[in-house]
Amino acid sequence: LDRAAKPSLTIRLCQPRGFCAGVDRAIQIVVLALKKYGAPVYVRHEIVHNRYVVEGLQKLGAVFIEELDEIPAEHQSSPVVFSAHGVPKSVPADAQARNLFYLDATCPLVSKVHKQAMRHQRLGRHVLLIGHAGHPEVIGTMGQLPEGVVTLIESEEDVERFNPADPSALGFVTQTTLSVEDTAGVIRALEEKFPEIHAAAAESICYATTNRQEAVKETAAGSDLFLVVGAPNSSNSMRLVEVAERAGAKMSLLVQRASDIPWERIGAIGTLGLSAGASAPEILVDEIIDAFRERFDVTVDLAVTATETENFPVMRALRDVELTRA
Ligand code: F3S
Repeated sequence: LDRAAKPSLTIRLCQPRGFCAGVDRAIQIVVLALKKYGAPVYVRHEIVHNRYVVEGLQKLGAVFIEELDEIPAEHQSSPVVFSAHGVPKSVPADAQARNLFYLDATCPLVSKVHKQAMRHQRLGRHVLLIGHAGHPEVIGTMGQLPEGVVTLIESEEDVERFNPADPSALGFVTQTTLSVEDTAGVIRALEEKFPEIHAAAAESICYATTNRQEAVKETAAGSDLFLVVGAPNSSNSMRLVEVAERAGAKMSLLVQRASDIPWERIGAIGTLGLSAGASAPEILVDEIIDAFRERFDVTVDLAVTATETENFPVMRALRDVELTRA
């Protein structure tokens, strides 16, 4: 009787969604470091941009800090982990100077962008980084090279305003979590204005960003509502909300937990598109689906647009811990 009273709702669940290989590796590094070295393990910046993940690791004994000088003198021998977003070169240098033991959880795909930026510079090019000001990944990538060597480009307007001393010696890289569509526009503008510009050998927007945006694009059209599970400081999650809106979802929102769902705004809906940013754990997606099941007679349609097999192993120092885990 109860079931009959509920309106029906089709949830189009995007696949791939949620955790990428870089996030999975970063979380594993903290968990394994706690096992191997015991608490506390310091983590510089949110290991990945998700409060649920951060709180879970805090319960296990991780201590989150923004700068290395927050590590108290009596814990100088505890390990400190650098987040998945990457860090400027000054951070490991500072850790060394302080005699700290650090584990770098920078995603290998971010490290690759660092190397590409350095390569441009080595070849005598002024480096442009397409990205969002203030994001830790941008701070980390710019910080691979001396100050003033990298120019941040946020938009096509920035391209217009940019007048380099030598337009024939330019190279660009991008943040890994940008909008594929917007970035294509910025790159087009760069190539039009600077026909001699050099691109990195491989695409800098990562596979996870590309695949999640593609899946959202496929499923959002015609959805009454599109929800992205993720945090407001998660760049790739925010991009998914925009992609859903552009692809034709009637309403597109970011939610961190089921308690964020604005039921009064949603009203009567028949189709819900659902995805999760690369730093959002699957348990939160389940929580959202359960919340809808309480109010609707839910059918879940899995919308598969790609299969991901990427897996990034942790550093050697922690591999023995993993082996004894089972
Ligand atoms: Fe790495 Fe892309 Fe994830 S850069 S951390 S695989 S979103």
